[in-house]
Amino acid sequence: MFKLLDYIDIGTNLLKAHFTRRFNIAPPPRVIAYTVTWRCNASCDMCGIKNVDSNLKKKEHELTAKDISRIFKDPYLKNIDLIRFTGGEPFIKEDFEEVVNEIFKNTKTKIYYITTNGYYSQRIFKFIEDLAPKMKNLVIQISLDAIGEEHDKIRKIPKLNENITNTLRGLSELRKKYKFYFGINQTVTVNTVQYIDRIAELCDKYKCDHKIYLAYEVHESDILEGRKLYNELKLYSDVEDGESKKIFQAVRKHYKMKSSQKRDIFSPRTLWDILQGEILEGSENRIFEQKISPNPPCLALFFYLRLLPDGKIMPCTLKPEVIGDLKNQSFKEVWCSKKARDVRSEIRRCKGCWVECDIVPNIVYSPHFVKKIFKKMFFQSKR
Ligand SMILES: C[S@@+](CC[C@H](N)C(=O)[O-])C[C@H]1O[C@@H](n2cnc3c(N)ncnc32)[C@H](O)[C@@H]1O
Ligand code: SF4
Ligand code: SF4
Repeated sequence: MFKLLDYIDIGTNLLKAHFTRRFNIAPPPRVIAYTVTWRCNASCDMCGIKNVDSNLKKKEHELTAKDISRIFKDPYLKNIDLIRFTGGEPFIKEDFEEVVNEIFKNTKTKIYYITTNGYYSQRIFKFIEDLAPKMKNLVIQISLDAIGEEHDKIRKIPKLNENITNTLRGLSELRKKYKFYFGINQTVTVNTVQYIDRIAELCDKYKCDHKIYLAYEVHESDILEGRKLYNELKLYSDVEDGESKKIFQAVRKHYKMKSSQKRDIFSPRTLWDILQGEILEGSENRIFEQKISPNPPCLALFFYLRLLPDGKIMPCTLKPEVIGDLKNQSFKEVWCSKKARDVRSEIRRCKGCWVECDIVPNIVYSPHFVKKIFKKMFFQSKR
């Protein structure tokens, strides 16, 4: 997926961001989480999207492909490592393909990562047919939490599991023609933990990636809840400590089994395994030991940002402060504004959080993570 030069480029910029952060200065961002829409055809138990004000969900508020074309011509947005497209359901947005294409035309983004509930099979296939031939690193992750009707019950869409099977089958066929990556994102609760092995088997069948996320009480879909949110980490499943520990044990068992498979140290899967281990450790420490560790320096607004459907920019889920509006301002104007500088000072004082979607860039771009990679390299070479 990456060449050595990409790693050098990322590493250099990581050092730069950590260094300039001390002086409250931010180089151009490298990671963007873009919520393309608040609209969704599902109403999942664990997700906060259903609570978003219906007025905000109107499509006329969303950025259009034309807006995106203007916004991403900004030189500050030229060299992005990763744009993660989320929602709501990205493929419900009628011009989603054009939006991604405009970003592709105007930037040198390295990875385009899309999470979808997999319902709109035909739109997903057309998206791949049109964009995969020209894009290098396109990743489509389909959310699947359980098998069969159990999944439909969680997501409140009848026969969704059948559409997902169709989507997975179609993607597997398309991969014979085009180079892109796909996989399953499983969001684990006390009710879905039992499906880990069966979803893993499904991923083996389609030769695709299986990523596991624990469902937490607070998630990026709650960003509009504002400062009502708090940063104590809690699982979404409201169960006794013993039951929660069993969920962690099941996930850890699965990771252990996966990471015992020998792979190239720089393959995305190996890096993902190391990252998952780190996230799990941070979660267990916080939930069971009340220990705030690991706690890497936060790079929100220094290295990454959140772009909302209507063009507003915020740092993260627990600091949902609007720092600018790309419908009326250029990106550089927002990024270099006094407001952004003031919020950056606040972020530097933030005692840390463990909202997974926000802290992943902090972990990946931390010196501690680099050390873990070297450690893994060392042990792998001894095997
Ligand atoms: C908010 S959704 C948006 C994209 C798309 N609608 C989907 O479901 O894949 C992104 C991911 O967040 C996960 N998610 C939803 N609620 C969550 C929670 N409380 N904790 C952790 N992940 C959650 C979903 O399962 C999905 O994989
Ligand atoms: S998890 Fe995805 S599919 Fe489910 S309600 Fe949230 S945004 Fe919609
Ligand atoms: S650690 Fe960073 S991502 Fe978490 S609440 Fe603080 S500023 Fe936001």
